[in-house]
Amino acid sequence: MTEKREEWGTRIGLVLAMAGNAVGLGNFLRFPVQATQNGGGAFMIPYFCALIFLAVPLMWCEWAMGRLGGEKGHGATPGIFAMLWKHPIAKYLGILGMFLPFGVTVYYCYLESWCLAFSWFSLTGRYHEVTEVAKMKDFLHSYQGLNTSFFGGLGTAYCFFLLTMTANVYILYKGIQGGIEKLANWGMPILFVFASLLVLRVLTLGAPDPSLPDNNVINGLGFIWNPDFSQLGNAKVWLAAAGQIFFTTSVGFGAIQTYASYLKRKDDVVVTGLSTTMTNEFVEVVLGGSLAIPIAFAFFGRDMMLDIANGGSFNLGFAAMPVVFQKLPLGAIQGFMWFSLLFIAGITSSVALLQPVVAFFKDELRWSHGKAVAVTGGICFVAAHVPILGLKAGALDEIDFWVGTFGVALFALLETIIFVWIYKPENAWREIQDGAQVRAPGFFLFVLKYITPVYIGALLIAWTWQQGPAVLRMEGVSAADAAWRWGARGLLVSIFAAMCYWVHQAKDRIEEAK
Ligand code: TRP
Repeated sequence: MTEKREEWGTRIGLVLAMAGNAVGLGNFLRFPVQATQNGGGAFMIPYFCALIFLAVPLMWCEWAMGRLGGEKGHGATPGIFAMLWKHPIAKYLGILGMFLPFGVTVYYCYLESWCLAFSWFSLTGRYHEVTEVAKMKDFLHSYQGLNTSFFGGLGTAYCFFLLTMTANVYILYKGIQGGIEKLANWGMPILFVFASLLVLRVLTLGAPDPSLPDNNVINGLGFIWNPDFSQLGNAKVWLAAAGQIFFTTSVGFGAIQTYASYLKRKDDVVVTGLSTTMTNEFVEVVLGGSLAIPIAFAFFGRDMMLDIANGGSFNLGFAAMPVVFQKLPLGAIQGFMWFSLLFIAGITSSVALLQPVVAFFKDELRWSHGKAVAVTGGICFVAAHVPILGLKAGALDEIDFWVGTFGVALFALLETIIFVWIYKPENAWREIQDGAQVRAPGFFLFVLKYITPVYIGALLIAWTWQQGPAVLRMEGVSAADAAWRWGARGLLVSIFAAMCYWVHQAKDRIEEAK
């Protein structure tokens, strides 16, 4: 390594950037729907089990692996795995750690652009006068290009998507300190303030319709949190909880390693890693859990709220919420706050999803920063056309299943085996503890060696068993939709193949630079 690798500027910047990485659309849109559909308060039991036995230990591993890799000039998992395991296959297994986050961004940036668009619509009154949920769904579908009742076509959505992509590329181009860290330093406080103000507003709502006193916020909160313990015997609930934990903490994708590769050796992993994880949990459980569901419950009542939530997380966030805001005084401002906080949550995650590929191009192929960012952004932009145009056919869900559910469990298992078992438990543990202000309890060494891998192994088998065959065979999918879904698979395979080619090209550097 001749020139110096980038580093985080300040500790608070690092914490906010890592928190921004984890806090995303998952906290505000995915979590409330998952909790509602999987036993309410009882969901929190498998949820916290997954947090303690999967997310926390894996978070420490990923931070430690990343810091170790960064020291030797490797910011993405192909190089990191090659350092930990001196086997030629290791670097190819590491491809998953850039493929998964990149696969998520392919659709995530598009969702993020909806938030930008809707915050603009809130301010400008574009959805003004759409005062029923059914109508607002129509508005959303029209925006997505599925009908022409409000928008002539996909044009508006496409413009906002271009804007969002440009913003992402710009931030990546500005680099770790000048781009990502600055974004987090500004964005995360704004996000906290907006979310807290909205939560306060929700908690003081009472019963919006005096003739229906049962439709109130307290009952709405009760609806999320009252435990239905009979659900705990259901494997589906445990899978959903683990899936949510992986998605929301960003663990098991490979993207944390890249952020951690910009740490310094003396930086603490144990306390900082834990505090960013806990920040994410606060935002998810306390703030995310107090917004969409209780609001929709108070305004629409239990049955209709359930109906909306079962229609998917987008209906709740993009159809129910804007209708509610119009019923409130200063609704335009609150709508703006809701959608812009979603946009901030989204963009601080999407830059984290793209950075592993940028780091790989720079670290291993020795590309210039500009070229690395341009190629990464360019491929993401082109690939995103599959979920954009194949939205109705479920191209987005297809990608989400392979990278966001199946891929994560696979990668999480791989990294645990490589870091804990192949690199040896005592080495892994020493790496985690090095520089720690407070040592991690020895109990977690035991968790890491036995509980975490067995837990993930069980999830992987259960997912493959339960959903694998139906997804693989595309059960219940029409022929036209199947074409799009095959397109999405083809896209994923092509991206993976390109990454194999690049790793192959970089193999001498990866191998000698250990
Ligand atoms: N955690 C993000 C959210 O809650 C999404 C996400 C999943 C992510 N995997 C990631 C973000 C990897 C950054 C890196 O929305």
